[in-house]
Amino acid sequence: MSNSQPAATASERIGLKARKVSFDWEETPLHWVPDDPFTAHTINVLHLLLPAGERWFVHVYRQVLPYIRDDRLREDVIGFIGQEAVHSQAHDDVLPHLKRLGLDPTPYTAQVDWLFEKLLGDRTLPPGRARAWWLKERVALIAAIEHYTAFLGDWVLGAEELDRRGADPVMLDLLRWHGAEEVEHRSVAFDLFMHVDGGYRRRVRTWATAFSALVFLWQRGTRFFMENDPTLPAGRATVRDFVARGREGVLPSTPDLLRSVPRYLSRAYHPSQEGSTAQAVAYLASSPAANGGH
Ligand SMILES: [Fe+2]
Ligand SMILES: [Fe+2]
Repeated sequence: MSNSQPAATASERIGLKARKVSFDWEETPLHWVPDDPFTAHTINVLHLLLPAGERWFVHVYRQVLPYIRDDRLREDVIGFIGQEAVHSQAHDDVLPHLKRLGLDPTPYTAQVDWLFEKLLGDRTLPPGRARAWWLKERVALIAAIEHYTAFLGDWVLGAEELDRRGADPVMLDLLRWHGAEEVEHRSVAFDLFMHVDGGYRRRVRTWATAFSALVFLWQRGTRFFMENDPTLPAGRATVRDFVARGREGVLPSTPDLLRSVPRYLSRAYHPSQEGSTAQAVAYLASSPAANGGH
């Protein structure tokens, strides 16, 4: 464990705490973006990936805690663990509602659970170099994924087109509360990666793995929802749909997504340069879910 790097600038550093939230899904329709199942289902993929994914973050980070030799960073990682545990649960709670509306996510979530628990879980490695390698590799993967959770969080906080189209307010609040906490803790995973390893080749390699896996899982998840939606007899999902919704502002734009790639791969990258803590904190102060619940 080497290469301790400077963390976020002092002005960006705030104590991280998990907020208690509550959501009432009773009134949320299946197509929670009116007349646009493709957009609703593309965003619904979050509920498939995040419960297992964020549980896995927590699992990995608990193993790293004993190796952190910087008190402030350890505090941040503990705050991060608390927030991700709540996120994971909040997205998991949407799944029974989707099932009630006729869309059973279990065939897909079973595969995602296998991916995170088995493929990316603890392998039976002897203590020593192999085990340390696998831990560092997973810490680097999480840093790459957190580049995208922060990107998406920043996007959804400003995605006013969703409000204009009459998107369900409870779902929007879930996305924006979560997105705001992603922006709030966006530096933690990268700082931890720099603390335990920080190798540039590992950053590039794990970015490539994380990015390909996210694209693969996301398009598969969207197709799964579109094909199994009981109200869409011939539901399809194409790249063209995605690019078009990005232009309309109801999904992230493809050029913005592509531009985020060289930023993460730049040697000068630090997550504090992305997104706005002030915007995130302002949303959290007004979020219905984080202030007493729906
Ligand atoms: Fe999260
Ligand atoms: Fe996160």
